[in-house]
Amino acid sequence: MTSEIAETDETSLGEEIVRRITALGAISATPGDLTRIFLTPEHRAAADLLLSWMAEAGMDAHLDAIGNVCGRYEGERPGLPCLMLGSHYDTVRDAGKWDGPLGLITAISCVADLHKRGRRLPFAVEVTGFADEEGVRFASTLLGSRAVAGTFVESVLGVRDSAGISMREALVTFGLDPDHIGAAARAPSELLAYVELHIEQGPVLEAHDLPVGVVTAISGATRLAASLTGMAGHAGTVPMLLRRDALAGAAECITTIEELCRTDHGGLVGTVGYIHAMPGATNVIPGQVSFTIDLRAATDTHRNKAVTDIVRHIEAIARHRKLTLQIDVTHENRSVPCAPWLRSQVAEAIAAEGYPVFELPSGAGHDGMAMIDIADVGMVFVRCRGGISHHPDEHVEVADADAGARVLLRVIENFRPRSGATGERS
Ligand code: HGY
Ligand code: MN
Ligand code: MN
Repeated sequence: MTSEIAETDETSLGEEIVRRITALGAISATPGDLTRIFLTPEHRAAADLLLSWMAEAGMDAHLDAIGNVCGRYEGERPGLPCLMLGSHYDTVRDAGKWDGPLGLITAISCVADLHKRGRRLPFAVEVTGFADEEGVRFASTLLGSRAVAGTFVESVLGVRDSAGISMREALVTFGLDPDHIGAAARAPSELLAYVELHIEQGPVLEAHDLPVGVVTAISGATRLAASLTGMAGHAGTVPMLLRRDALAGAAECITTIEELCRTDHGGLVGTVGYIHAMPGATNVIPGQVSFTIDLRAATDTHRNKAVTDIVRHIEAIARHRKLTLQIDVTHENRSVPCAPWLRSQVAEAIAAEGYPVFELPSGAGHDGMAMIDIADVGMVFVRCRGGISHHPDEHVEVADADAGARVLLRVIENFRPRSGATGERS
């Protein structure tokens, strides 16, 4: 449990960041654990707090058309293209408080440090807090960063959440105009680069006893929604050989996915994170089951081949058990490389802080997968205890938060746009 840290002038960047992580982490739909979902009262409360921190840091801050929080710290003169920093501030259910907020709060603290010193750079610095990276409520992810990248797909406005509320209705209730999301889009010419600091969410930095690392690429991901329909029936009277048990069929699918991934040698990982059996009574054979599948691999080719292979196995199980199968891809993100010129500037900053330079890929998805459409992407990883993430035990030590902040501040102050970087802000 992070001890409360009072703010004084001597507060280190790390201590300020941890204090704010704790404050933001207290904004949850459910007291006692952390769940903060897109377009909810908790989203609004978190946005208000983040916008106040952005304003304190000397930024012009506003909520954009999809609920991202956006701060801008002008350069030596108004209207310059920006180095955009950021991360997301939505969470998974029963989440840790660092996944997303660490990168966002660290970026705000770095700008606040520039502001405190009256430092102006030959470019603007923008910080964007993305409103929905996890995709918990409406199944499709990166909604905030896609809106900024201009790749938001209008058809998702019709997707309904588990309570039957469409994204369109949720936006209106939140006070946003669903027909106005295009206003969030930025032109590539406005951005010199997008750099995100994030917890590693894995055990590699800890295994190498390193506080920070340079990200080489972000693994792609495919999400599928499957449903199996058999025949509900009396648990006491239907002989086993006459059953079309949808849950038993789903169980065979799940163990098959696990076995195919476990025996794969290309870093394939597969997860069934959600399952729902109907009618859901102890003494009724499940007639209908829906479940999700999340598949990732180091390369798109490998992942796409695995998707085809796994779908074929599931089709065979459904046939053999006389179950009706419906399976759809609900979300697909290609693998995204971090730009070599940004990797080297992150590496320089890490070395300048006295740490060994270590490069590693990201198995987790990030907003850079959308931002790549309008800017080159760089990422800084910060060690998290035990590599634990998407779990309340997710944790970053103050010293590592401080190391990450000092590295990011160096990246910002020593940032050199790639030659030929373009124009003034429109
Ligand atoms: O699922 C992911 O990789 C990310 O945490 N959204
Ligand atoms: Mn996450
Ligand atoms: Mn994240």
